Amino acid sequence: MPKLEKGILLYEGKAKKLFATTNPAEVIVYYKDDATAGNGAKKGTILNKGILNNKITGFLFEMLESSNIPTHHIRLLSEREALVKKVNIIPIEVVTRNIVAGSLSNKLLIPEGERLACPIVELYYKNDAAGDPPINYYHAKALNLATREQIDTMESYALRINEILSAFFAEKNLILVDFKLEFGIYNNEVILADEITPDTCRLWDSVTLEKMDKDRFRRDLGGVEDAYIEVCRRITN
Ligand code: TMP
Repeated sequence: MPKLEKGILLYEGKAKKLFATTNPAEVIVYYKDDATAGNGAKKGTILNKGILNNKITGFLFEMLESSNIPTHHIRLLSEREALVKKVNIIPIEVVTRNIVAGSLSNKLLIPEGERLACPIVELYYKNDAAGDPPINYYHAKALNLATREQIDTMESYALRINEILSAFFAEKNLILVDFKLEFGIYNNEVILADEITPDTCRLWDSVTLEKMDKDRFRRDLGGVEDAYIEVCRRITN
């Protein structure tokens, strides 16, 4: 296979950069070590996070593809780079929760750690200036963010992904507490995009309940790099 040349920088986000390729239907994702929390209020770096997150997302997206979840992933190109399908991102973050934590705990005044009777799926408008506010079907429709059918598809994928990942992580002694997904449109179809990593999931050790994700950075718990290394080791071994 000829070496793919990185084209112009199309977009730089908080954790990743996107580069054009000679094929207009494909782009290169480059994973950075930069970390932010609280909508950019807290900034830092997590050593080698980009390498670990690229590897973890590549592994999990290939696993989901083999379970018939369509994703943007094509193949890993290097330690920090992956080739992906160029999608139009739907500006809605889809959060699925199995256990009360984070903003749900703060909102409902329920202590972290309580298992929910069934998973909760929430929608947030991807809008940094507005602080990614929670939205529902009516907002999505009225603001032309997505159709009802697209939202139904994203929610049903989120619930299937939750089942697949919860079972997989359980084998690795990790509890999938909650996670955030992003989807895009490719050939008029909704497909999974973005990443699934300790940046976008809460993962607790199933024995010690130790936090193994970005909450270590958000809450200044220390041991951030080691947690990411351990999650990557457990997932890919
Ligand atoms: P929350 O409890 O802060 O609402 O977060 C729920 C899950 O979504 C958690 O696993 C972290 C993830 N998440 C992101 O990946 N990006 C975000 O911007 C937010 C708010 C949450």
